[in-house]
Amino acid sequence: MNILIINGANLNLLGKREPHIYGNVSFEDYFEILKEKFAQKDVNLHYFQSNHEGELLDKIHEVGFSFEGIVLNAGAYTHTSIALADAIGGITAPVVEVHISNVYARETFRHHSFIAPKCVGSIVGLGLKGYELAIDFFCKK
Ligand code: DQA
Repeated sequence: MNILIINGANLNLLGKREPHIYGNVSFEDYFEILKEKFAQKDVNLHYFQSNHEGELLDKIHEVGFSFEGIVLNAGAYTHTSIALADAIGGITAPVVEVHISNVYARETFRHHSFIAPKCVGSIVGLGLKGYELAIDFFCKK
């Protein structure tokens, strides 16, 4: 089973960026932990990060008809991108939306997600653990 984690805008800065909100672990380090956690399971984990909306679209199109699942934290594009919502709506792979922080406890502009209605579900506010829970969901599906 192939699962792709996609991180969008500014998530390359995890570990350095606002650690009181996002923690102090880089995604590269966390990805190693994730790979170990799922090593015994029949799952190939892949990771892609981009700050560019078009590159996120291209990656979703690339794997969206062959992978078994996509875990997507689109960062701020969550709250702005109809194009990302359309991309998710146009593929066959199920997408789980993840946010590290509890966006509902933050500024009101973070309360709306264009992508949520196109996703099978959303995991919000559980820190990096949200990615693990999303992968677990695909494994048990
Ligand atoms: C985020 C929440 C977004 O509102 C924000 O723009 C991010 C990170 C999160 O993981 O909590 O960049 O997606």
